Amino acid sequence: MSNAERKEILVSQDELELQRSYIEKVKAINDYYFETNAKRKRAHIVTFGCQMNAHDSEKLLGMLCEMGYDETDKEEGADLIVYNTCCVRENAENKVYGNLGYLKHFKEKSKDFKIILCGCMMQQGTVVDKLKKSYRYVDIIFGTFNLYRFPELLYTNIETGGQVIDIWEEHKEIIEDIPSIRKHVFKSSVNIMYGCDNFCAYCIVPYVRGRERSRAPQDIVNEIKSLVEDGVKEITLLGQNVNSYGKKLEEKVTFAELLRMIHQIEGLERIKFMTSHPKDLSDELIYTIRDCKKISRYIHLPIQSGSTEVLKKMNRKYTKEKYLTLVEKIKNEIPDAAITTDLIVGFPGETEEDFNETLDVVEKARFSGAFTYIYSIRTGTPAANMEDQVPEAVISERFNRLLQKLNPIVHELNLAQVGQVLDVLVEEVNSQNEELVTGRADNNSIVHFKGNKQLIGNIVKVKITSCKTFYLNGELELN
Ligand code: SAM
Ligand code: SF4
Ligand code: F3S
Repeated sequence: MSNAERKEILVSQDELELQRSYIEKVKAINDYYFETNAKRKRAHIVTFGCQMNAHDSEKLLGMLCEMGYDETDKEEGADLIVYNTCCVRENAENKVYGNLGYLKHFKEKSKDFKIILCGCMMQQGTVVDKLKKSYRYVDIIFGTFNLYRFPELLYTNIETGGQVIDIWEEHKEIIEDIPSIRKHVFKSSVNIMYGCDNFCAYCIVPYVRGRERSRAPQDIVNEIKSLVEDGVKEITLLGQNVNSYGKKLEEKVTFAELLRMIHQIEGLERIKFMTSHPKDLSDELIYTIRDCKKISRYIHLPIQSGSTEVLKKMNRKYTKEKYLTLVEKIKNEIPDAAITTDLIVGFPGETEEDFNETLDVVEKARFSGAFTYIYSIRTGTPAANMEDQVPEAVISERFNRLLQKLNPIVHELNLAQVGQVLDVLVEEVNSQNEELVTGRADNNSIVHFKGNKQLIGNIVKVKITSCKTFYLNGELELN
């Protein structure tokens, strides 16, 4: 272990100890409240954005519960509300401002009611300036780099009653072992890396999540082992570009090597990961997925645009042809793999020809699913200053054409699964029909079938009997 590494661990442990002391202090205040009021304070967390944020919310909830709060799934009746924000597109930010207006009434009713804002949106100076000026009633504001300091910030606010703002410009050490409460007993996300170094021209993430840094493989393996001991069957490894995992570690480890280490963990049944950047997807990774049966036959491989010209302006560092070759290689090696993607419509300068290239890729790659986005200008990114922003009406017409091309293909791929027997991890009772349960197949397809809540958390065999565009219907196979 190098001196720097040793120092980092010491700093982490000191910092954790300090935060534990604040957890105890807030807990003492809440225990007293419980003794005098015969009820616990309730906390509600709203998560905007991606799985990274959802996972951070599990850590926030873990800390809140240790501080003596009960979780509530409603805003009404909560004593404390956390908005874990996202800024990847403008509408994600607008939702937060809209909701904040509504929360003002809660604050007017009770001065002890706490409003806490954190996450990606808070890493933007303009946002914090606006909040300071027009949303004085927000109690605590912090960003993505100092989430673990939440207990200290909450205690300071409780003690002083004043607005507490703590935003860091960059990450410091990676803090391990933050308490966390998982949403599901049987599945969990695991961060394998933080931040992003890719600076795609449209994207705000590198500015709000900082430089790419990987966790040590042993820390990841240990975390997963303890999750498995706790009943977890499926894990999703998270990173903005998992394919570049380990490149900056002192002892280099590739993502494929990490997967093979995780694959050996006894009791773990299914491994998923996201997101894969096409520029870094190696043959070694394709062979690893092919050979390791616990790894899901599901690869989320965002292309963003089918036009090589646009991809160049986006700084994606691959061409349409390279992407299609990659897809072909994956399909040759892993024929049952489902490949999904992200697509942006209306990147600055996107011409009709460029857009037709996107439609062409959709037809050739035959995606099992896609997240489709309308380009959103993000101040501070290179694309925000590009000329030729595409008019809204043109974008919206292209967006509809994209869906018309995508959806029939998704439906056809679902139809091809009818008659097959799939391994489905049952996740919940169906929200529309309580005679049904819903789960995910190994290729990430959503599957509904008749069953009861005793099945939740089990991987069962389901024969697919019919399908719609976005899900499959089936019947439980009774051996
Ligand atoms: N790191 C992942 C990758 O590169 O594949 C993506 C993470 S990002 C949080 C998820 C998706 O949001 C991107 O793949 C992209 O399609 C979309 N996105 C990012 N910035 C956007 C913007 N300014 N406007 C519209 N969509 C955007
Ligand atoms: Fe954003 Fe690109 Fe990084 Fe993904 S790889 S988070 S799209 S900058
Ligand atoms: Fe995720 Fe949104 Fe942040 S997509 S990384 S929560 S900007």
